[in-house]
Amino acid sequence: MTDQTSRPLALVTGASSGIGRELAREFATNGFDLVIAAEDERIGTVAEELRGLGAEVIAVQVDLTTDRGVDNLISRAAPRGRVPDAAALNAGIGAGGAFATDTALEDELRIVDLNVRSTVHLAKHLVADMVARGSGRILFTSSIASTMPGTYQAVYNASKSFVQSFALALREELKDTGVTVTALMPGPTDTEFFERADMLDTKVGAGDKDDPRDVARDGFEALMAGEERIISASLKTKLQGRGSRLLPDSVKAKMHAAQARPGSGEGPEGNGSAVPHEYDIHEKEDDDMGKTARDVMSGGAECVGENETVLDAARKLADLGVGAMPICGEDDRLKGMLTDRDIVVKVLAKGKDPEQTRAGETADGSEVVTIGADDSVEDALRTMASHKVRRLPVIDGHRLVGVVSQADLARSLDNAQVGELVEAISATA
Ligand SMILES: NC(=O)c1ccc[n+]([C@@H]2O[C@H](COP(=O)([O-])OP(=O)(O)OC[C@H]3O[C@@H](n4cnc5c(N)ncnc54)[C@H](OP(=O)(O)O)[C@@H]3O)[C@@H](O)[C@H]2O)c1
Repeated sequence: MTDQTSRPLALVTGASSGIGRELAREFATNGFDLVIAAEDERIGTVAEELRGLGAEVIAVQVDLTTDRGVDNLISRAAPRGRVPDAAALNAGIGAGGAFATDTALEDELRIVDLNVRSTVHLAKHLVADMVARGSGRILFTSSIASTMPGTYQAVYNASKSFVQSFALALREELKDTGVTVTALMPGPTDTEFFERADMLDTKVGAGDKDDPRDVARDGFEALMAGEERIISASLKTKLQGRGSRLLPDSVKAKMHAAQARPGSGEGPEGNGSAVPHEYDIHEKEDDDMGKTARDVMSGGAECVGENETVLDAARKLADLGVGAMPICGEDDRLKGMLTDRDIVVKVLAKGKDPEQTRAGETADGSEVVTIGADDSVEDALRTMASHKVRRLPVIDGHRLVGVVSQADLARSLDNAQVGELVEAISATA
């Protein structure tokens, strides 16, 4: 590597395969020279590939689970005093199986040593050098797994929760230093990870995965933009990342078990695209629900007509003891939802007379969140959770046929998971 170069320098750990290899390619194609590290000698082959993209590359073969390996990398990561302009601390491993009976302590301590200890150790040096220079970008490969207890993958998820928390804390500490910190949060990605973790017989190991190139591109772009975190890459993963925030940890731990339990990926449902995602927060362990919105909705299609007055609507709300009610059009179609808050904000606070204002005037024309009469109760729960509503009008064709409330769902299902999910909606609604 030359002394004088105007090209920026990036360090990537775990660059011999998977996400790290694609991150290194992103850096190379975007004009960076590289220091890349991995444990096996194939890191040399990756270095050759990257040189083919025009980058100067130093390949460092080290075992980052040891302090010696980390020190070795640190001494090579700043060739001739060149502090890296960017670093992707990405090397990581997992181990699937029951903690009590399946997994080896040695493997789990290696997870801690690599995912946690080496990450802190490397960051200590990089951060100090970058802060002294007044610039730098650090990408931590965290995971969607950081947001949930990892039943049958317990130490791995805990290690990623550490990385996520650590990254976000550093980001705040460094906000005025010119050094940015970004957390990359992939969902299941098609790399060697699951094979190494002995998880190919699990649902997540056998299921659909994201392309590491897409994940790396997302990570690189977020790093360059100085973003706090990036959930990559599929829309599904992003929705799951968001949805996950709604759920209690105990529910997430149960759902994780269904996806990561050894053997869960075997059998007719164990392979291919039909397999649910590891972090599919909507996945339920037992398929015992089977009910539709029509089965559990309460009462008839109680609604307020669009030409009825707001005062009439208020009386109906009071009589029924509810806080929201559908607005039905003359054509029997749903025009909107009227809430007690709408009456205060859109009518009383604006000085309008509730006796002269029609209920239909409070509908703002935006699409009403509804559920189909034959949609499953699971769909109803999901819709409530994602839209943070407690009552859903039930539609058959275009006709309003009823309303399903959070309480209806809670009453009709005795499944503990669902009860907790309803609680989660309640907490965030
Ligand atoms: N795949 C997923 O579904 C997924 C999802 C979320 C987050 N992640 C995270 O993404 C990161 C990259 O994993 P990946 O999915 O790309 O898996 P991968 O293909 O198995 O890559 C892991 C990389 O880490 C390196 N590594 C392993 N042990 C090492 C050690 N002791 N010392 C130095 N390097 C070591 C490997 O190098 P060698 O081949 O030389 O051992 C390899 O380059 C990890 O932090 C993982 O936790 C993965």
